[in-house]
Amino acid sequence: MDNQKLSPKGCILVTGGCGFIGSHTVVYLLNEGYDVVVVDDLSNASEKVLDRIDTIVGDDAAERLTFVRADVADKDALETVFDEFDIDAVIHFAGFKAVGESVTKPIEYYSNNIGNTLVLVDVMRDHGCKSILFSSSATVYGDPDALPLTEASPKKACTNPYGWTKWMIEEILRSLTIADPEWNVVLLRYFNPIGAHPSGLMGEDPKGIPNNLLPYVAQVAVGRRDAVHVFGNDYDTPDGTGVRDYIHVMDLASGHVAALDWMVGRTGCEVFNLGTGKGTSVLEIIRAFSAACGRELPYVIEPRRAGDVTANYADCAKAREMLGWEAKYDIADMCRDSWNWQSKNPNGYADSNEA
Ligand code: UFG
Repeated sequence: MDNQKLSPKGCILVTGGCGFIGSHTVVYLLNEGYDVVVVDDLSNASEKVLDRIDTIVGDDAAERLTFVRADVADKDALETVFDEFDIDAVIHFAGFKAVGESVTKPIEYYSNNIGNTLVLVDVMRDHGCKSILFSSSATVYGDPDALPLTEASPKKACTNPYGWTKWMIEEILRSLTIADPEWNVVLLRYFNPIGAHPSGLMGEDPKGIPNNLLPYVAQVAVGRRDAVHVFGNDYDTPDGTGVRDYIHVMDLASGHVAALDWMVGRTGCEVFNLGTGKGTSVLEIIRAFSAACGRELPYVIEPRRAGDVTANYADCAKAREMLGWEAKYDIADMCRDSWNWQSKNPNGYADSNEA
């Protein structure tokens, strides 16, 4: 194949496109008319998600999707992708993301997340593709001095290697724009992504015991686990439990497309928070999910979890003003869609019959 391109809109390489946020973003990109090349090694994702994407977008749009099973750190594989496709921009999701695991496997986390990014930007540069949108995290704000968090809030110490990889990759990408003014970098700092595709065909499918609140609550709702463990009820918040800015994964996906559209013809480095601006406590989440699934979900209060901050939520004015983007879904929508996905797929993608 020689410089494949079907769409006038452009061709986007999505690393980690089979993962939770990646797969929802791929759906948005295809629906917006982009060609999409997904590179994913399936180390923490299921290939079955590709069939679900096809079902959601339909046959015509699905023709604009190509899947390459490869590790982003595999330079030869990436070279082949860039030789075969005329990639206009990259959305870089691929990386290890379990906070707790990163504490016990720092070498793996630093080497995988930072190493694959360096290989990626090296290959991009060699092929003259210098537009990249990076999947960063509110974790780079550390323990905030003041809320809400704006993009000008200081980056502070992270409490785990996973967070530091996001922190450092931001700086690596920023350095590119200083060294070479042709680079066009957007850093998207996500708050807490939850929810699922409203069809119930795609959602979060963590391996093993979920680290994050929502997948855990959903697994309690579906009977896979007994009770939610609430990590601390003595925080300085209205009900004593931790407060986060939960954002629907569909909103997050549309935020990527808005950022991509905004990037056209620009250079430099820009940062955007992607959140809703609203803080919700753990107990409020449990209540909202109970309402969504129609039964009171049991919970037990546990000690605080090491490394957790009391509260964080975003100031979303910059994305609203510059990207024309804002979150549309509320907590009830997020819990409804998460429950829809979990109840239709109690074991995630594992039980589906597709090839
Ligand atoms: N929590 C529980 N019980 C659980 C899991 C979580 O009570 O079983 C609480 C936490 O203490 C916290 C809230 O629910 O107050 C949210 O916890 P999550 O683990 O869902 O999310 P975090 O805010 O800890 O972390 C998320 C992402 C990280 C990212 C970080 C950025 O998982 O990738 O936000 O702030 F780095």
